[in-house]
Amino acid sequence: MARRRGFSAVVPPAWLPAVLLFLAGAASGEPLQQYYNAIFSFGDSFSDTGNFVIINSGKLPNMPKFPPPYARCSNGRLVIDFLAEAFGLPLLPPSANKGTNFSQGANFAVMGATALDLKYFKDNNVWSIPPFNTSMGVQLEWFQEVKRSICPDDPAACRALFGRALFVFGEFGGNDYSFAWKADWSLEKVKTMVPAVVASLVGGVERLLDEGARHVVVPGNLPAGCIPITLTMYPSEDRSEYDPRTGCLKKYNSVALYHNAMLRVALDRLQRRRPESRVVYADYYTPYIQFARTPHLYGYKRGALRACCGGGGPYNYNVSASCGLPGATTCEDPDAHVSWDGIHLTEAPYRFIANTWVKGPYAHPPLATVVLEDMVD
Ligand SMILES: *[C@@H]1O[C@H](CO)[C@@H](O)[C@H](O)[C@H]1NC(C)=O
Ligand SMILES: *[C@@H]1O[C@H](CO)[C@@H](O)[C@H](O)[C@H]1NC(C)=O
Ligand SMILES: *[C@@H]1O[C@H](CO)[C@@H](O)[C@H](O)[C@H]1NC(C)=O
Repeated sequence: MARRRGFSAVVPPAWLPAVLLFLAGAASGEPLQQYYNAIFSFGDSFSDTGNFVIINSGKLPNMPKFPPPYARCSNGRLVIDFLAEAFGLPLLPPSANKGTNFSQGANFAVMGATALDLKYFKDNNVWSIPPFNTSMGVQLEWFQEVKRSICPDDPAACRALFGRALFVFGEFGGNDYSFAWKADWSLEKVKTMVPAVVASLVGGVERLLDEGARHVVVPGNLPAGCIPITLTMYPSEDRSEYDPRTGCLKKYNSVALYHNAMLRVALDRLQRRRPESRVVYADYYTPYIQFARTPHLYGYKRGALRACCGGGGPYNYNVSASCGLPGATTCEDPDAHVSWDGIHLTEAPYRFIANTWVKGPYAHPPLATVVLEDMVD
């Protein structure tokens, strides 16, 4: 069962007709709709579908007005929602919604979650981190609870279920670095975190593979230097700190690029150690940079660097009047903006990115290819 067969130039392989049929069907989305039995998602606010609101309801002031299933940081669906739709599964229930039947999946992602545990930040004197105990490691513990509810006392049933599920592990890391920036760490010092963050993520993916996961998607970081909150909080008088092609701050993007490069190398190594599984790197960075370079080509008439919902200023981001707080207003054309609230994206770019992860070119390999390999094996 050779998993990565090359195309033979001489003899058309016996499975070629099946591939062509599949590709014809993939264009209409058909075969993808029946392949996975469940999706399990981990991450931060880019994929939180309600956990933060549930966990903090009654505890924090200014909580969003909308209860689940609307409690997302966007004007609509996120990448994880579009993946569920592409694979014919219901939108993922937030794991904090106790009593839910999670046999078709669960979403453990929480706004503010970090790749590293709280302890790392405390040991390194980073007090800018909110005291949320929702890191990747904690989310993996929640996964164990859900596992006990969906396949109790039956390890073989669990492995069978996870072997036919899609795992989406991230985005993680963006918050780790942003808390360090907020603590006034230098570029050199922030870069020293990257190996620890990447090692933590790879360790997390391995734990899922040990549970029987076979398809794991690991998204990289977004270009933090293109995000209105970064551009607003860390403005520079020195034009050379901005990339002239995008208007983004180069320093913050350089950390995301370094993280993504190191993550890809580590995932490639993990893939070689675990050939029975597929570990997919999914790219948020490149499409976002494309939006920033040529927003009009993608339909973003208001550009990529100005939030739809916010309290004014050059990027329409204002800490004391951020989206949802008094003083903020919402634009009438969210589809013409990449940024929703100055941190997160609107539904339109999330839809675009999800599609590039399923059909290419921004997942390596695209998920449709991963599913196809299993179907022809
Ligand atoms: C949970 O849902 C699955 C599939 O939707 C179903 O087969 C199973 O019986 C349900 N379990 C319970 C306890 O309702
Ligand atoms: C964080 O949550 C985990 C899992 O629920 C728990 O084991 C741990 O003790 C908690 N840590 C803190 C600092 O509250
Ligand atoms: C930010 O919001 C505060 C509170 O509404 C307001 O007083 C201030 O003028 C705003 N700043 C900008 C740059 O719009």
